[in-house]
Amino acid sequence: MRKKPLEKVLCGVVGDEMLKHVPSSFDLVGNIAIIKVPPELENYKFKIGEAISRLYKSVKTVLNVSKPTEGSYRLRKYEVIWGEETTQTIHKEYGCRFKVDLQKVFFNPRLSFERKRIVDSVKPFETIINMFAGSGIVSVLIAKWKPEIDKVYSIDINPEAYLSMKENMFLNKVENKIIPILGNAEKVIKEFLLGVADRVIMLLPSFALNYLEAAIEGLKKEGGVIHFYHECRAANKDEAIKKTLNALKEKFKNDISFKYGEKRVVRSVSPHIYHVAVDLVFR
Ligand SMILES: C[S@@+](CC[C@H](N)C(=O)[O-])C[C@H]1O[C@@H](n2cnc3c(N)ncnc32)[C@H](O)[C@@H]1O
Repeated sequence: MRKKPLEKVLCGVVGDEMLKHVPSSFDLVGNIAIIKVPPELENYKFKIGEAISRLYKSVKTVLNVSKPTEGSYRLRKYEVIWGEETTQTIHKEYGCRFKVDLQKVFFNPRLSFERKRIVDSVKPFETIINMFAGSGIVSVLIAKWKPEIDKVYSIDINPEAYLSMKENMFLNKVENKIIPILGNAEKVIKEFLLGVADRVIMLLPSFALNYLEAAIEGLKKEGGVIHFYHECRAANKDEAIKKTLNALKEKFKNDISFKYGEKRVVRSVSPHIYHVAVDLVFR
């Protein structure tokens, strides 16, 4: 998100030859700004934090990403480079409010379009399994905007995510539509949720391929839709989609019949690493 280029505010602060390293964008989550200061600008990080606070008066804290997303909980490490010492805030997205703690539970505002796309595709009376729910963002948005659904089973393996999604469903008054579950989505489906869902959401691009069998087992006998995600290295967006379809082909080896629905690149995570979304339609 950019209001006016950070470069302009930092002109005369970081030296002309350093300006080319200034990131062109940063994220806003509630009243927290998040930036990834490149190693070349390490000595200027506190000045960069202050510059961001001048650009956005509502910002109370500026965080620098000190370690990229890692581990099964998909968490990043942050350091405060300006303002209040906190990683917790209230973020608004499509008319809902979410309490998020960036240090404890995965949250990325750049997924908002993809979350909206999922919500828009939901039909009345559906039962949904959200396998990797994080703070329950998609589950809450679906329950809020598609109140005629049956329910959303909202699963996460991170105990902090489970607590956070519970808090968010009450905050948005949709607790009657969401069943929060703490556990490994694969185990939960195989033990309790076989054949219950019209729609399964797999928003875990780095590992979703490993959980596809469980997702299919979660679908009703008469079929349904799986929102599948995949992370891959590719030269461009078209190649990323092609590689994702190849990975699916390789996984199923024509054993299972389904059709492809919408396919799109959600975002590029870093140069040549893409997150791809493919809807799998089983009928
Ligand atoms: C990319 S984040 C989820 C994003 C979330 N849907 C959103 O829109 O904010 C992936 C989540 O999957 C969870 N996770 C990872 N492995 C899991 C598993 N085997 N079962 C359930 N949850 C898992 C992580 O704890 C993390 O919260």
